[in-house]
Amino acid sequence: MEQKAQKKDHKMHQKGHKCELPTVVVREFTPVDKPEVQRIFYEGLMEMVPDTAFRGLRHHPESLVLYTAMTVLCFAITMCWWVIGLLPAIVLCGRYFYSRHVIHGYMERAMSRDMGDIEGFYMNSPDSCLWVAVLEGKVAGVVAAVSQQNSGGAVELQRMSVDRNCRRCGVGVALGRKVLEYAAAHNYSSVVLGTTAYALAAHQLYQRLGFRCVRVTDGYVTPGARGSLLEMIFYRVRHHHYRLDL
Ligand SMILES: CC(C)(COP(=O)(O)OP(=O)(O)OC[C@H]1O[C@@H](n2cnc3c(N)ncnc32)[C@H](O)[C@@H]1OP(=O)(O)O)[C@@H](O)C(=O)NCCC(=O)NCCS
Repeated sequence: MEQKAQKKDHKMHQKGHKCELPTVVVREFTPVDKPEVQRIFYEGLMEMVPDTAFRGLRHHPESLVLYTAMTVLCFAITMCWWVIGLLPAIVLCGRYFYSRHVIHGYMERAMSRDMGDIEGFYMNSPDSCLWVAVLEGKVAGVVAAVSQQNSGGAVELQRMSVDRNCRRCGVGVALGRKVLEYAAAHNYSSVVLGTTAYALAAHQLYQRLGFRCVRVTDGYVTPGARGSLLEMIFYRVRHHHYRLDL
């Protein structure tokens, strides 16, 4: 019986429906959480690869123009139809490869800094913190806050990620609210964040928490990117800056 209910919950997750799971508890990170936190962070980040490579294409008409120009040029040079037929597949492979490459670089950078030493980076200073959300005794999500020294009393929400199997259960909202509570308790004037996600989930979540998009940077240079010519052709993202004044 219980197994049936769990299967139903799982199916609802897969279909993206809201499910009914026990209350989400958000608490500060402890060292035993590290492997789960790193896993959730890694998996959330890797979801950005197809998001950037494929969904992102619809948001960058300039890239489409460039790929069309490349196709025309190839045809003019080779006069070969099968080359033209292969080009869309080559473009998609290139976009996937370079998105993965850049996002991997970003992840390695994060692991060699804050996400590799969560205790030292986030937990030993009053200006930062990392929390985990717990559902049914298991770590289901992660979020962090770091004071922005140069940004007039702002704190940055970072590393928001929820385990794929625990989505649409209010975990993201609970984590976001924890950062807002922290910011209010520490007298910050605003909470800021940035995202290069194209998927609706992150944007809807931040808007639901009360954030508004204040700026969009086109052609954003992701930390960890090398900026080679091929990377510039196949990897292009928009960075949305969100802000919530307290
Ligand atoms: C974005 C993310 C953190 C949302 O976490 P979550 O626990 O599923 O969010 P919640 O259940 O609290 O949902 C809050 C609101 O966000 C929006 N939302 C969440 N998932 C959504 C989806 N797949 N599609 C559309 N809206 C979505 C809804 O408005 C939702 O409210 P509702 O359920 O009442 O309609 C999660 O999808 C995730 O970890 N994604 C991968 C990593 C990522 O993108 N991180 C953010 C990078 S900046």
